[in-house]
Amino acid sequence: MRCDTICKYSALEYDELSAELIYNKLKILQSNKTKICIALSGGSTPIPILKKLKAYKLDWNKFHFFMVDERFVDINHKDNNYGNIKQAFYDFIPSKSYPMIINTDNIDVSVKSYDCLLRNEVISVNEKPKFDLIILGMGNDGHTASLFPDTEGLKEENESVIKNYVSKFESWRVTLTYPTILNANEIIVMLKGKEKKEIFKSFYLTESNEYPIAKVSKEHNHINWLIEH
Ligand code: 6PG
Repeated sequence: MRCDTICKYSALEYDELSAELIYNKLKILQSNKTKICIALSGGSTPIPILKKLKAYKLDWNKFHFFMVDERFVDINHKDNNYGNIKQAFYDFIPSKSYPMIINTDNIDVSVKSYDCLLRNEVISVNEKPKFDLIILGMGNDGHTASLFPDTEGLKEENESVIKNYVSKFESWRVTLTYPTILNANEIIVMLKGKEKKEIFKSFYLTESNEYPIAKVSKEHNHINWLIEH
């Protein structure tokens, strides 16, 4: 049974209300569990929201934060998702957090290491890590995580985390796969900006498979869509 929610926030209130919605979900999770595993996406949308979220009082030591995806750059590089979230959020709360990139010599080392980490730290259901919550973004090409249109990563049906070459950027990414994302107990998708709202309307409740995010939309039944109206 599908139990999606669609929340429409104005540009002015988007970050505040998104942070409040996430807080309320984390509060429920902490009341029922001693260890909560959450995967966060990178990009620009989450940063101002996480800056507000860190001010809320929660049992942060119960929370374990993982990455949905990562650029194959050093943690101190300006494009490193973990590094940016660490500066905005992790540095202010007593949670555990796990970067994806171990070193920039060999991406396979990071992929294997993260796969092992997921097996050790996240409950496995259907032989895949089952996150309590995964927070996704979406690009204006409809990508989510680092599952970009016309990339090999879209075809992965077995592994939990992979490397994925993104030709439009001529660079490698590490990303959770569809099987892992679809295995999550709950998903939040942050769609800030008018363009993303139009993309959402083009695939939600339609048969369109044009965008990578559409597969998540069709195959997961508990998604909270946070849309700027
Ligand atoms: C990344 C992200 C990616 C992001 C979208 C949206 O590494 O870039 O994980 O999937 O969620 O690109 O990014 P913005 O929030 O910057 O629009």
